Amino acid sequence: MPARFSEAKTDTIPIRLIAPADVPDAFADLTEAQRSWINHMGFAAKPGQVLSLADASGRPALALIGLGKPEARKRTRFAVGATIAQLPAGTYRIDALPEDVSGNEVGLGYLLSCYRFDRYRNQPQVKAGLVAPPGTNAANLEQIVEAESLTRDLINTPAEDMGPDALEAAMRDLAGRFGADVTATEGEALIGANLPLIHTVGRAATRAPRLLDMTWGNSGPTLTLVGKGVCFDTGGLNLKPGASMGLMKKDMGGAATVLGLAQMIMSAALPLRLRVLIPAVENNVAGNAFRPGDILTARNGLTVEINNTDAEGRLVLADALALASETPPDLMISMATLTGAARVAVGPDLAPFYTDDDPLAAALAMAASNVADPVWRMPFHTPYESMIEPGIADLDNAPKGGFAGSITAALFLRRFVKDTPRYAHFDIYGWQPNAAPGRPKGGVGQGARSVFEALPEVLNL
Ligand code: BES
Ligand code: MN
Ligand code: ZN
Repeated sequence: MPARFSEAKTDTIPIRLIAPADVPDAFADLTEAQRSWINHMGFAAKPGQVLSLADASGRPALALIGLGKPEARKRTRFAVGATIAQLPAGTYRIDALPEDVSGNEVGLGYLLSCYRFDRYRNQPQVKAGLVAPPGTNAANLEQIVEAESLTRDLINTPAEDMGPDALEAAMRDLAGRFGADVTATEGEALIGANLPLIHTVGRAATRAPRLLDMTWGNSGPTLTLVGKGVCFDTGGLNLKPGASMGLMKKDMGGAATVLGLAQMIMSAALPLRLRVLIPAVENNVAGNAFRPGDILTARNGLTVEINNTDAEGRLVLADALALASETPPDLMISMATLTGAARVAVGPDLAPFYTDDDPLAAALAMAASNVADPVWRMPFHTPYESMIEPGIADLDNAPKGGFAGSITAALFLRRFVKDTPRYAHFDIYGWQPNAAPGRPKGGVGQGARSVFEALPEVLNL
């Protein structure tokens, strides 16, 4: 069930968002009975504090929600929307937003809190409906959250049911809904099509590797999205220890996020031409697996020494980025659960991104705050280029020591991007380790809302 706002009917229950500084003035218009009840219940407008009030005949009259002090509010996002989603059954409305509360954040927080992963088990649904907050575009927020739900579903689905074949089916399903075209190059055909690294990384798995290519739109500027679709990452012959492998169904988080972003773009009918490339593989172990020490030649002719088969994401992305660069778009964006180093650097909440384009970086940072999707710029530090040069081949896929691991991975990708005026790469985590407002534990999109919000400015739409 897609998350939706309610119609603005007459019998909706008003919500009042209250800051601690506004207590008790905010209750001046209430009945004496209500005021004494508020007093009795100790409502002090603490963050997330809720109090439902009844009228004289016992019907719901008003819901009070505490905002907490400004400093406390900075510690979290989506708190108000998530609190609304926990209210008792009923349809609620917000008549007025305090000046410093964003209607978009409240609306997104509510809709995102309605997400349930119920493919394998029914989950209790949210009982509280909400009319879109004042000043928001209900359809726009609903489209964004529906797309985010797709991303979450794809990441949450276990690898057994989300292999390269299922990821292809997901892309075809999305394309079918919006009239986009899909081509897939699969298995041995990858060799003939000169996508050797995608084939090599995926060849040990029983489910064939493939390059998925979706196109949509016929006029306007061009945007190419590239997403890492490693449907399961065992590490290959450099096998991951159990604790590190446990979550690796999420290693297609980049693919899931660019598909969600594509859905945002297509459902909003943005006037642009979109291409989505996803190398979809499983990095697995078998007698024909690629090995440490192998030297592989990528699509663009660069040779790569394999120093760790677990640094597979940059390999499959290399071929996809080289292919993408052959038809250079106005803007190219890659998203990938590429390195553990990115998570060490910024943790699970921030989406680190790399770009050489300052206006693009500024637009992303501005957009991020509008849509509560925090991103953080990282440096494409050119002096580290020597770290990815092994000597006996052009590139090393896993520099020893691991210094600046997320940066060296990003530099590796940049080697495959040519003739493209603007490129940004996101090294995302794609997973919410502990439940937070609007984000249950599990798969989560990162950076997609920010990119979507920035596109009109960046591409002059
Ligand atoms: N998919 C992993 C990166 C990853 C690990 C993301 C854990 C999020 C959480 C990637 O394929 C990988 O294994 N990267 C290695 C690279 C190293 C061998 C150079 C890493 O980060 O350890
Ligand atoms: Mn890996
Ligand atoms: Zn990986």
